[in-house]
Amino acid sequence: MSKVMIFDHPLIQHKLSILRDERTGTKQFRELVNEIAMLMCYEATRDLPLKDVEVKTPMETATVKNISGRKLAFVPILRAGLGMVDGVLSLVPTAKVGHIGMYRDPETHEPVDYYCKLPSDLPERDVIVLDPMLATGGSAIDAVTSIKKHHPHSIKFMCIIAAPEGIDAFTKAHPDVELYCAAKDRELNDHAYILPGLGDAGDRIFGTK
Ligand code: PRP
Ligand code: URA
Repeated sequence: MSKVMIFDHPLIQHKLSILRDERTGTKQFRELVNEIAMLMCYEATRDLPLKDVEVKTPMETATVKNISGRKLAFVPILRAGLGMVDGVLSLVPTAKVGHIGMYRDPETHEPVDYYCKLPSDLPERDVIVLDPMLATGGSAIDAVTSIKKHHPHSIKFMCIIAAPEGIDAFTKAHPDVELYCAAKDRELNDHAYILPGLGDAGDRIFGTK
């Protein structure tokens, strides 16, 4: 069974309440998605291994902690996942970024993949997959299946809003992948949109409709 972490930090919940508001415009929506992604990344990287290093301060030589060898890769699912990239890179600017292109067929709600470009050294990297929305879970499941073929050291999945249906499907398909969400919403509607949700994340980030 995967570990599912729902963030209840007041800053994240406050920002999410503004994100959900239909009156929030594209500029502020983009800023909030990045800010929430950054705050979530802070938590999702809590278990990065540390090593002791010596540093000479102006006062003396001290043994302090550095993040040890392992490297990160962020993989946004296009399009909406792109909205989270600047936020996470502001915390880990040296991370590499892969891309997976996927959209949901409007009739069947099944994911259709159209692009995949990942760092070549994935076996040495811990991957954090980014997508603001986990609805049926289909896109996330397929994206993680594709990434696993490149044998990363580990994978985590980070979304802003998850539906219970998506969490169930994802944790069944990938019980080894930790799932980080800012909120678990009530349910999906007949068009597989999350309720109460925030609407179409890609359209709200990029101002399309
Ligand atoms: C959205 C979202 C996820 C997917 C979630 O993308 O960003 O990728 O839907 O739905 P699922 O869990 O049912 O698969 P969308 O298909 O709207 O594509 P876009 O990001 O290009 O707008
Ligand atoms: N994709 C979105 O952008 N929003 C939803 O509610 C479901 C899927």
